[in-house]
Amino acid sequence: MKKNIAVIKGDGIGPEIIEEALKVLDKIAEKYGHSFDYTQLLMGGIAIDETGSPLPQETIDGCLSSDSVLLGAVGGPKWDKGKGSMRPEAGLLGIRGALKLFANIRPAKLLKPLSDACPLKRDITDKGLDLVIVRELIGGAYFGEKRTFIDEYGHKTAVDSMKYGDYEIERICRVAFDMARKRRNKVTSIDKANVLDSSRLWREIAHKVSAEYPDVDFSDMLVDNAAMQLVRDPSQFDVIVTENLFGDILSDEASMITGSLGMIPSASLGEGSPGLYEPIHGSAPDIAGQNKANPMAAVLSAAMMLRYSFDMREEADDIENAADKVLEEGFRTSDIMSEGMTLVSCSEMGDRIAAFI
Ligand code: IPM
Ligand code: MN
Repeated sequence: MKKNIAVIKGDGIGPEIIEEALKVLDKIAEKYGHSFDYTQLLMGGIAIDETGSPLPQETIDGCLSSDSVLLGAVGGPKWDKGKGSMRPEAGLLGIRGALKLFANIRPAKLLKPLSDACPLKRDITDKGLDLVIVRELIGGAYFGEKRTFIDEYGHKTAVDSMKYGDYEIERICRVAFDMARKRRNKVTSIDKANVLDSSRLWREIAHKVSAEYPDVDFSDMLVDNAAMQLVRDPSQFDVIVTENLFGDILSDEASMITGSLGMIPSASLGEGSPGLYEPIHGSAPDIAGQNKANPMAAVLSAAMMLRYSFDMREEADDIENAADKVLEEGFRTSDIMSEGMTLVSCSEMGDRIAAFI
């Protein structure tokens, strides 16, 4: 198969980790007789520097005309002082919006060889940890009306509104229920319905959708409780569905209990637009350019791309198995390093994964 992949390396460790993901994709292309064409596009801080905008129109057009998008990470201290629309993150939110990527799939699974890197006690991890967060990605406080103004008493004041329409909740819930049917048939919808109107609507619609999936075990949970349950007994979760901001926060927590933020890939999907695949971690400016970053999340994001956008299941399995193998053999980047293991660089990790394919 021939596929056009838009590649956005971004800032910080973005370029290093994406380089490894491309290395792995090239190996897959060679082994299975595919041809992957990459178009490099600018977004984030580097795009601000080179074009004056975090999301140039050329990047939006390039993504729209591709079969799929692979993204590294954006952001860094250099651009932190810019106002909202001139920050690298505005590029990320902009591309999510432009491609209408409403469903963000973030799998968190504790791999056996990484159980030492998990900060939870053994008796908790022994019960297993294999969940997926389905995060709504283009609504809520991220996309609601926002403004900063001086109020009537002269106080500088800022507002972000968390807004959801019933159709937005319904479509993301369907993604979660469909996914649960392919897994362990369980959905937990997470909200703050004891306080927020938007959560009360969320809960009402989630219940309505759940009625169409009588075979799927459904419950809801308040977000503060969920944050606690994730570290008390993560084995209780299969598919979690939640709004944008809660999903952002809970997915970092879920990643940490799998060992490292550097392990978790994600897929952002819409309807009829190319999917976008990116690690859930940020640009880690503190270690950028040092060949130290963990490329796993980027490599596993490429595997998700093969699975979800190209329906190349065998190829995706091949990458995931290779990543497991490298860990089983004791190779670790510094973020997941533990006693007795072999420390490797970002590029060496990529080489080893590619070698197992
Ligand atoms: C993520 C990131 C982004 C988000 C930032 C960089 C805007 O934290 O993908 O989780 O908050 O969505
Ligand atoms: Mn985040």
